[in-house]
Amino acid sequence: MDELKERAIWLDQMDSLASYRREFYIHDQVIYLDGNSLGLLSKRAETAVWDVMEMWKAYGIDGWNEGKHPWFYLSEKLGSMMAPIIGAKSEEVIVTGSTTINLHQLLSTFYQPTPGKNKILADELNFPSDLYAISSHLQLRGYSENNRILVKSNDGLTIDEEEMISQMADDVALVVLPSVLYRSGQLLNMQKLTEAAHQRGILIGFDLAHSIGAVPHSLSEWNVDFAFWCNYKYLNGGPGAVAGLYINEQHFDRNPGLVGWFSSNKERQFDLATTMNKGDGAGAYQVGTPHVLSVAPLIGSLSMYEEIGIERIREKSLKQTQLFIDLVNEKLLHYGFSFGNLLEDDKRGGHISLIHQDALRIAKALKSHRVIPDFRPPHLIRMAPSPLYTSYEDIWTAVSRLQTIMVTKGYETFSSVREVIT
Ligand SMILES: Cc1ncc(COP(=O)(O)O)c(C=O)c1O
Repeated sequence: MDELKERAIWLDQMDSLASYRREFYIHDQVIYLDGNSLGLLSKRAETAVWDVMEMWKAYGIDGWNEGKHPWFYLSEKLGSMMAPIIGAKSEEVIVTGSTTINLHQLLSTFYQPTPGKNKILADELNFPSDLYAISSHLQLRGYSENNRILVKSNDGLTIDEEEMISQMADDVALVVLPSVLYRSGQLLNMQKLTEAAHQRGILIGFDLAHSIGAVPHSLSEWNVDFAFWCNYKYLNGGPGAVAGLYINEQHFDRNPGLVGWFSSNKERQFDLATTMNKGDGAGAYQVGTPHVLSVAPLIGSLSMYEEIGIERIREKSLKQTQLFIDLVNEKLLHYGFSFGNLLEDDKRGGHISLIHQDALRIAKALKSHRVIPDFRPPHLIRMAPSPLYTSYEDIWTAVSRLQTIMVTKGYETFSSVREVIT
């Protein structure tokens, strides 16, 4: 047996998280490596959705304050469950909105341009939705695209933190960056960037979509001003799951830019007064009625994170991506692949990126071999082992199926026309 297969089997035998795999719906022979786009359904998440449906059936309107998971305080309760995952205090976190809408909320709150300080600094590799949101806020305040400064990447894959810091000029009001870059998986040093921004009197926030649930954070300790993320990737909250938002407690005295009756102090919300009594913490950043059915899966999936703790998940994730790297080095590099991700532990998130000129056709061939990656144009294949449901042997098998595809050139039979969703 090859040495790396032996290592994979041994790692599975030693794995204290191995039993969680049985909690997920995994199709026979399928190796699902797309948990960085949409995590799989767990039985706990499914049960939680049925629990909420049963509450609706049993209680009707009274489900807001009765039953197993009363809906009125559910967003706050889930915020407390998420707080340890990002190193925040319970009241600093709320489960609400969607990733992009939460960024809009945060920009409307934290972007307070003045004549001498009115630029927003981001990077050209940031997820497009974030960049579009930034542009729309500049437009709303009467500024042009010239006020959106995008730090360039030297290689199209990574961002140089020193270059980023050097662009934190006096006229920059706000910095918005990803924690982990969605293509290359580069993990930025959030603490260093936050310190640099604050030394220059700039506020800073992070999009945690590609780190939450895979990488620990210490947002409160690092003094990050705000953060936002989705819950459908590593956290397995389901398609369109309600998202999350973090506000450093130092900013609790600010008024959220966008408010509605759910921004109220909950004890006073049903006073239905004409002037709002603002809630105390991150809860004030909600706007309207929570999407209870889209938040329900998180009740189940976050319970696993509570049991395990994010540190153990990161430990396994790093071992899994390292095994992936070793397998690629041994079996794939001579077929025209190179790494799109950085190889150091402290610079990579939870996924591996492989670059190949024929990446689209190879990704399609992988799917036909029941390995599920995703493809990002022009030449990137992303593959994310999930510490909760991917075994080490799965990683070995995925790479050996990929090797077979390359040896037989099986990918050449697939079309190089891209589908709408990849
Ligand atoms: C890094 C990042 N930011 C923002 C978004 C947009 O998220 P949403 O469509 O939930 O607003 C995504 C979506 O995948 C993402 O990966």
